[in-house]
Amino acid sequence: MKSAEEYPVPELFDRSSYRALVEEIQFLAHQYYVLDSPLVDDAFYDDLFRLLQRVESLHTDLRDQDSPLKKIGGEISKDFSPVPHDPPMLSLDNALSLEEFLVFDERIRRETGQSHPEYHAEPKYDGLAAEILYLEGILRKASTRGDGFTGEDITHTMRTVANVPLSLRKKPGRLLIRGEVVMKKQDFLDLNAELTEKGKKNFANPRNAAAGSLRLQDSSVTRSRRLTFFPYSVTSIEGFTLPELQSDIWNTLFPELGFRPGELSFRGGREEVLKHYEAVESSRSELPFDIDGIVIKMNSLKTQQELGTTTRSPKFAIAWKFAARAGYTRINSIVYQTGRTGVITPVANLEPVTIGGVVVSRATLHNQSQMEKLDIRQGDTVEVIRSGDVIPRVVRVVPDEKHASREAPVFPTHCPSCGGPLVKEDIFVRCPNPDCSGRVVAQIQYFVSRDGIDVETLGEEWVQKFYSAGIISDAADIFALTKEQILPFEKMGEKLAAKIIASIHSRRSIPFAVFLRSLGIPGVGSHIAQILSENSGNLETLLAMDEKELTAIHEVGPATAKAIAEFRDNPRNRNLLEKFRKYGVELISPAPKKDSSFSGKTFVFTGTLKKLSRTEAAELVKERSGRVSGSVSAKTDYVVAGEAAGSKLEKAEQLQLTILTEEEFLSML
Ligand code: IVH
Repeated sequence: MKSAEEYPVPELFDRSSYRALVEEIQFLAHQYYVLDSPLVDDAFYDDLFRLLQRVESLHTDLRDQDSPLKKIGGEISKDFSPVPHDPPMLSLDNALSLEEFLVFDERIRRETGQSHPEYHAEPKYDGLAAEILYLEGILRKASTRGDGFTGEDITHTMRTVANVPLSLRKKPGRLLIRGEVVMKKQDFLDLNAELTEKGKKNFANPRNAAAGSLRLQDSSVTRSRRLTFFPYSVTSIEGFTLPELQSDIWNTLFPELGFRPGELSFRGGREEVLKHYEAVESSRSELPFDIDGIVIKMNSLKTQQELGTTTRSPKFAIAWKFAARAGYTRINSIVYQTGRTGVITPVANLEPVTIGGVVVSRATLHNQSQMEKLDIRQGDTVEVIRSGDVIPRVVRVVPDEKHASREAPVFPTHCPSCGGPLVKEDIFVRCPNPDCSGRVVAQIQYFVSRDGIDVETLGEEWVQKFYSAGIISDAADIFALTKEQILPFEKMGEKLAAKIIASIHSRRSIPFAVFLRSLGIPGVGSHIAQILSENSGNLETLLAMDEKELTAIHEVGPATAKAIAEFRDNPRNRNLLEKFRKYGVELISPAPKKDSSFSGKTFVFTGTLKKLSRTEAAELVKERSGRVSGSVSAKTDYVVAGEAAGSKLEKAEQLQLTILTEEEFLSML
């Protein structure tokens, strides 16, 4: 170790003394940030750091890409340009119970023929997935997961994450590493306290805080957020042999390269994994960062390869989630909401409480009978649980001496939205008025939601506001919205308005099945919508079918057939469907059954598509017996190039392959 005084004076630095200083600081930073075992005191380190600052300001020609000064941030990037992921960044299948984990284990045994498969269990970090590219050991590019196929460039902010090395300890020619960026719980609480002090909005949970902090233009702000990177897999490495086991990647390769994987990894068979799961679950609240389960991977990388992946997720791994989390809080009020089918749902407004890292301020009470069974009253303290993406729900009243003196809620007899009389059907109370504003708003909200056509930027609140302002009156109207119309709303800015209009526009071509499920016809969910779409081919044919013909379709029951017929016979809906057409909504017909028009053909999609998501595009090819590949080769038949297509397009040009625009691809269908 050399102290700052032992180096030459800044003016006399040359390449070799510069590199010596850079490498000493890198070494000390690694000890401090990665290994948590500082070798020198802060003053010693700070002196070296200041010396480096001085040297770089005097000798601009010496500055290197891996200079520790790059970690300070200050670099501003505005574009977040698209970065393709090759191979795509997949998601993981979930197991929500022991049984589901055992099903996974059974499948692994069956498919590998191994009677005692060995697993590697890792924490399932709850942060933002990211990929980092190192060339000759130097950090060159970092990107978010995005939609799995294309992410956003976050190189400038990733550089400031303390435990991400700018320069690797061992230097493979090329390294692609993936992992999760998280914010530790304490750092999250500190950040929110600071934001509150400044009168700014808080982040709901550490995950959002991490994501928001990485996707900032000004990287010095990112640095102040103190993020942590946990690597979990190596996607490719050149000039190095990959070890045989996932556990070796964690315990040997990561540290050798200069990373620290999180604690709590574990190697063992099924029974041991079960015990490990329980141990981690019971200690999770003491961990410095949030995890929402454990990821169990086949330990042998060779077996991982052999098992392969589906389009969505690897077959060799599963995320075993922890059970629902509970919290306790008070009921401030009970309100009644009219859903899209008219069902009235009692909803509790809660004193905000953080459950599993998310602030919960509303929870469903399900229905009248559930509410009465639990004997819930305004002012009660209740137990609330949430699991995964499910809406939080109240499960129990915590008894106290005042409960009996609180007034029992009275279920309304008239609709809270339209004021019309309610009717009781089974355990549900329903507003039968099809023109009820509450129902219509909920229908539009459903139409644009993830379960519908998925207009990402158009949240429930905006739909409510646009409806109340009279600029939309049904789902079709969203396609006629203009930027000028939505700009005057409070909290709407130029940027958001443009984004909303663009995302609506991007959903103007919709696969017929997606459109169908979005209409919210009782009984017509994703699966039945798919079946109806395949059996009718288009809207006109479907609407011409009578109940008998509908019921004749396999899996379509009489109740659903009736609901479809009722939907069709309602003049409101006729009008609605006509409006979709008028506003230029285009329904993409499914491939006729057993369409083999793309048989033997391989497609590669690159760049950003405008009308279709990647998954939809891939589905359309597969429905026609074609193949979709992630990389371009001489065997590729078509390369569909969206916006900002990069190296794949270049390669396709070199190989003189057929290159299609998205429009051309669509017209091939
Ligand atoms: S493996 C190849 N390992 O979970 C498939 N993912 O639901 C996925 N995640 O977006 C990567 N901890 O960001 C893997 N130890 C871990 C993980 C992990 C968290 C995230 C990952 C991904 C999501 C999948």
